This record gives sequence, C-alpha cells and structure tokens, in this order.
Amino acid sequence: MPSKTHIHFSKFLLVQLTILVSFFGLKAIAQKPKQPEKQIIEPAKEWLDNKANPINAHGGGVLYYNGIYYWYGEHKIPGKSEEQFADGGIHCYTSKDLVNWTDGGLVLGVENNSSNYDLEYGCLIERPKVVFNAKTRKFLAYFKFYPKGNGYEVAYVGVATSESPAGPFKYSHKFLGPSPKGSGDFSMFIDDNGDLFHLAVRKPDKAFIIAKMRDDYMLPIEEYKEVKNVEHHTEAPAIVKINGVYHLLGSGSTGWKPNIARYYTSTNLYGPWKKEENPCTGFNKVDSLGIEKTWGGQSSFIIKVNGLKDAYVAMFDVWRPEMPIKGRYIWLPIVMKQNKFAINWLDSWNLDFFKQQSFNSKK
Ligand code: GAL
Repeated sequence: MPSKTHIHFSKFLLVQLTILVSFFGLKAIAQKPKQPEKQIIEPAKEWLDNKANPINAHGGGVLYYNGIYYWYGEHKIPGKSEEQFADGGIHCYTSKDLVNWTDGGLVLGVENNSSNYDLEYGCLIERPKVVFNAKTRKFLAYFKFYPKGNGYEVAYVGVATSESPAGPFKYSHKFLGPSPKGSGDFSMFIDDNGDLFHLAVRKPDKAFIIAKMRDDYMLPIEEYKEVKNVEHHTEAPAIVKINGVYHLLGSGSTGWKPNIARYYTSTNLYGPWKKEENPCTGFNKVDSLGIEKTWGGQSSFIIKVNGLKDAYVAMFDVWRPEMPIKGRYIWLPIVMKQNKFAINWLDSWNLDFFKQQSFNSKK
C-alpha cells in the first residue's frame, strides 16, 4: 500500500508535469516553427520565408545594398483573385545568400476607404522596382499604378521614396509618361554614370519606349522616344549591362498567361537592338512546361550577384490570377556564352553554380 505522503508527492509531480507540458505546448503553438536554413533554390516550387510562409513578392525586383539583398514585390492579399483586387502594396524580404529570405513586411500599403489618397484599396500596384539614388541618398520605388475604378485603362508610374531600403516608403506622386494612356510593364535601368532610364511599353499601341529621368530620379527629363528594333508588345523587360553591352530579356503580351521569351542586345539603350535567339532551354517538370511558355514564367528582373564575375540571376513569375498569392517564382542562373545569355532550367541550384561555372571555364 502506498503511504499518504507518497500519494501526495505523486499528485504534486503530476500537477507540475501538466503545467510544464501545457506551458511548452502553448509556447510551441505561439512561436511558429522557424524555417530551417535552405541550401537550394527550387524554381517553380513553393518558396518559404524565415517564418515558414510562402514568399509574397510577385512581379518583383532585387536591390543589393550594404551586403544585403532586398527583394521587393507585389503583396497579394490572401483569399482574393485578381478580379477581386488582390493588390495590397509592396512587400519586402531580405537575404544574404539569395536562398534564405527574412520577411520585412509591407513597405508600402494600400489604404481602405481613403478616396483622397491615390493608393486606395481597389487600385492596381504592379511590378515594383526599387533603385538607390547615390546623389540624393534616397531609395525610390516605382510601380505600375492603375487608379481604383478604371481597370487597366490608364497606366501611371507610381513613385514612392524612403530613407532606408527596408522602408517604410512614402507615396510621392504618379506620372503618365509617353501618352495620355501611360505605359505598362517597365524597367528602371541605372547606367554606369548614374543616369536612370525608364524603358516601358506604351499604351495603347504597345511600342517600346524610353526616356531619361531627372538627376533626382523623380520624373522623366526628356520626351519619350521609340526604342529602335524592339518589337511592339514586348512586356516584362529586365535589363542589365555586361562589358558594354545591354541585354534585354522580356516576354510577349498575353496577360497573365505565359508565352515565349524575347531577348535583345544593343550597345545603345535607344537602339538599334538586335533580336537574339531565345536564351531559354530545358523543361519545368513541376508544371510540365517547356520554353515555348518560358516554363510557365514571365520575366521580371535580372539580379547581379555581388562579388562574383559575370554572375546574374533571371527572375520570372508564375502567375496564378485566380489565387495570386499562390503565384510562384522561377529563378535561374544566367550563363554567358559568347557574350550572349544562356538560361537553362535547373530543378535546384544555389550560388555555388557560378563558382563551378568559372572553374569549368578556366579548365
Ligand atoms: C501582364 C503583365 C502583368 C499584368 C498582367 C495583367 O502582361 O506583365 O504585370 O499587368 O499582364 O493581365
């Protein structure tokens, strides 16, 4: 027979144990498990941030500043389709290796029921790109901006500024650019001397146009011109300059549906540009799509990898207009072959790819 003190002691232990279990149990629920360090990028698969949430930064671009990559993209509101207005503003993530991304939250958001503010919920905010102005020391975010209530009719360029790459960004103004209907998909390209150019597709004729921006990067400083020899309907432009040659990667114009990539090179941003062969090769096994649909993706930006020679990453979006927050990303390394892009599908990769690449080219 157990003694009375023995029974009391066991009861005491049981109570302590229950307290401990419920405390740690609750703690486990309260703190969402942190995403373990990832080693690889897996194009077209779900990509989780440090909080184990799918990354929500569509149609985006990446800025490298002071040892950190900042990924800015369209924040899509959970549960909304494109038709139900899914745009919530600009979402930012940070990383040191382009593989693991820390959620930096919304750096510019739409506001509900504020009809005297341009960024009222119901407007469209697409393809945000952020640049740093070395003269004014300001960060500027540009985005395709369609005011609420007018659909895709008139496309402005929205401009917001910040003192820090991590935001918050403050909405500044909008401008129409080349025509009363504005311009659509665009690239903000900074040349070696710090000049910034706005290259975009003009509405409604879809000609590809260019204008230099003012020194403070806030507005265009010249009349827009048609860029020579870039086909009409070229969308999703991403531009880099490598050894004095500009490379323009883009798409055709089929809305949210993917199409074949377009690729041009030139020694002058205004043209003439030369159409090159499609640089994409390989097959996306996740979505069973090949290069006639750019593996299901549409280009958005080209990242220059810091500290590695000729290391560039092409960013594409896999759009899901019926549930945009579920859109995915295809990021692939660009290889330079005879000074031209080659972008081959890889099921998984990381920055070691470039180290391997330069080792192979030295052999
Ligand atoms: C795409 C464009 C996207 C979005 C979409 C709407 O061509 O690249 O940013 O505007 O059309 O249909």
